[in-house]
Amino acid sequence: MAIVAHQDPLQLLKNRTKKSYQLFQEAQQVMPGGVTANIKYFDPYPIMMAEAEGSRLKDVDGNEYVDYLLAYGALILGHGHHKVTNAVIRQMVTKGTTIFGTPHELEVEMAKRLVKLYPGVEQVRYTNSGTEATLLAIRLAHAYTGKSKIAKFEGHYHGGYDQVLLSINPPLDQAGPADAPVAVPDSAGIDVYYQEHTIILPFNDLEATADILKARKEELAAVVVEPVQAGFIPATESFMQGLRKLTEELGILLIFDEVKTCFRVALGGAQSLYGIKPDLTALGKVLGGGFPVGAVGGKKEIMDVASPHGKKDVFEMNVKSKKKDVLFHSGTYNGHPSVLAAGLATLDVLEEGDNFETIVRTTEKLRRGLENVLRYYQIPVQTLGLGTIFNLVMTTEPITNYRDLQNANLDLRRQLDYYLLTLGVYTKPLNRYSLSLAHSDREIQETIDAYEAAAKQLLVKRGSQLNQD
Ligand SMILES: Cc1ncc(COP(=O)(O)O)c(C=O)c1O
Repeated sequence: MAIVAHQDPLQLLKNRTKKSYQLFQEAQQVMPGGVTANIKYFDPYPIMMAEAEGSRLKDVDGNEYVDYLLAYGALILGHGHHKVTNAVIRQMVTKGTTIFGTPHELEVEMAKRLVKLYPGVEQVRYTNSGTEATLLAIRLAHAYTGKSKIAKFEGHYHGGYDQVLLSINPPLDQAGPADAPVAVPDSAGIDVYYQEHTIILPFNDLEATADILKARKEELAAVVVEPVQAGFIPATESFMQGLRKLTEELGILLIFDEVKTCFRVALGGAQSLYGIKPDLTALGKVLGGGFPVGAVGGKKEIMDVASPHGKKDVFEMNVKSKKKDVLFHSGTYNGHPSVLAAGLATLDVLEEGDNFETIVRTTEKLRRGLENVLRYYQIPVQTLGLGTIFNLVMTTEPITNYRDLQNANLDLRRQLDYYLLTLGVYTKPLNRYSLSLAHSDREIQETIDAYEAAAKQLLVKRGSQLNQD
């Protein structure tokens, strides 16, 4: 067997990405940390991309990568699918504008499709992001119930604003007991008001969740949940059924945040898999076919709180009445025609033949392939996920929530990810994998081969460390 010298993956990466480094230096002058979203940064500097096609990204240095980040899951058809591109161009060229600034046909068409696919969706409002979607869902819950607090689960992400940017990634020494977690801010600048108004729940622990909800039912407008935590830790069937029953009994609304899972775990989202009707649902990502989007859907009775018919809103000129009796929701770009054209084209392709099932099969093939390679090299691993998303977790212990995840070997996973970047497999280190229709057997095999090379490097590294001890 040839002797393979261990090479430092960070150094290898730096050697291949010199133009990225230069561009990053410029970026840092004009953007804090050189990025426009904190999550897009990773050490030593993020790789700057220049082009993309299908399943692949090309960086400014000309290196190619098989893309498993796929814009954090948004691109379920891959980069630049011709039907999506054509739909957007057709919309702009044949309709004579980028945006009408008024209600229009595509809003109605997409809403009808969502009502048909999502069991909990009877009416729809559009937003420009998943963040705005959960924000609107929470405001609807406050307005409908008249209650002032919400509950969310530890480890669950619902967007980057004050009420929900709590206990997504809390240090365990600050996070309180496992069955009664406390709210820990995930950002500087979050007023203590939000810690007091957001109650943290333990995911997949029905008994402890029930205790907290029962004690707080008078204050709680809603429970918001990612039915599949971070897109890869599914709620157990019994937890989900129990949560639905409990929230109904206690008069607390149940909000499914399906921004990641919509059109990815099933065309009708996680709610169609669990057979559950949430009161409100937040959608995003895939819905916009690669353009900025979000939507809230829900029961007509609740959504109707936002209906302006015969009510007063914030801009209405009526000096006599100070009463604002309508839930205000607005946005210059809500329901943008080009975005909805892209989203509808994406849905059309997903519903064509067995396209969606094909992506699920490809995902399964990759999961099995990666598990086999890593296990062959005696690296403890499991893949977790549903449908077209998964993550690799470096432990064989069961993972059901945020705290279990802390037992996985994150350092090993990070090292693996850096080797993979040098071998042309892209995801942000530690991130989950999303697949697309553009990922074929060729990409899967290339990825498995890259994993094999990375696993060998990890073993060589381990060997050279042992020799030094
Ligand atoms: C479950 C979930 N909710 C909300 C959001 C926020 O969506 P956006 O980034 O479009 O604002 C995300 C984004 O990753 C998400 O995964």
